[in-house]
Amino acid sequence: MSPRKTIVAPSILACDFSRLGAEVERADAAGADWIHCDVMDGHLVDNISFGPAFVEAASRHTRLPLDVHLMIERPDIYVPRFADVAASITCHVEAAHDVSKTLLAIRDSDCLAGLAVSPPTPLESIRPHLGHFDILLIMTVNPGFGGQPFLPEMMEKVSAAADWRARDALDFHIEVDGGINRATAAVSLASGANVLVAGTSVFKAADIVAEIVALREGTPR
Ligand code: DX5
Ligand code: ZN
Repeated sequence: MSPRKTIVAPSILACDFSRLGAEVERADAAGADWIHCDVMDGHLVDNISFGPAFVEAASRHTRLPLDVHLMIERPDIYVPRFADVAASITCHVEAAHDVSKTLLAIRDSDCLAGLAVSPPTPLESIRPHLGHFDILLIMTVNPGFGGQPFLPEMMEKVSAAADWRARDALDFHIEVDGGINRATAAVSLASGANVLVAGTSVFKAADIVAEIVALREGTPR
């Protein structure tokens, strides 16, 4: 299989919400590949962020794929509310839904289907779903808030997932999310990830263009 393209997906959770349109345009112009949208419901995670109307508003400021990360207890109910504007929709294996059905519903709505696994959950939990998702999102912080430190022990999951993918000749992206900066991006890429979600490091960077280039190239400094 040819080497996977590295995808940098700035998370708008870290942007200035009062200037959403300009912030999305800034990330787009700086070279982002996808725009990552963190939807939280206050149930699956201890925070409430934004919903479909906000994601739709963001979509009016870019043609880049919107990568919607549903940190919500009932993704099965809400998938249709995002499907018109999302390119990919990721649900959590820990949420209260029939994971197989939700993944199928996401693919049926012409979006890439993602499955996310939080730090305390073993990778084994996603094994029954291999072949039925397009993105495996390995959380590198406990989901809920931006700006937390990267958990390096999650790299074992990344490399195990890359092994499973090679062994079964499967085709899915491996995405890491949480605490991604130049140094942790390099570690993640070396472990087998190819999609880098980065909130704080991109939106708070002094030079957003240089930051995105450095993340993509995996250059620690
Ligand atoms: C965490 C979210 C992340 C978050 C990453 O719950 O899923 O996407 O925005 O933010 P940083 O890059 O600041 O850790
Ligand atoms: Zn996320």
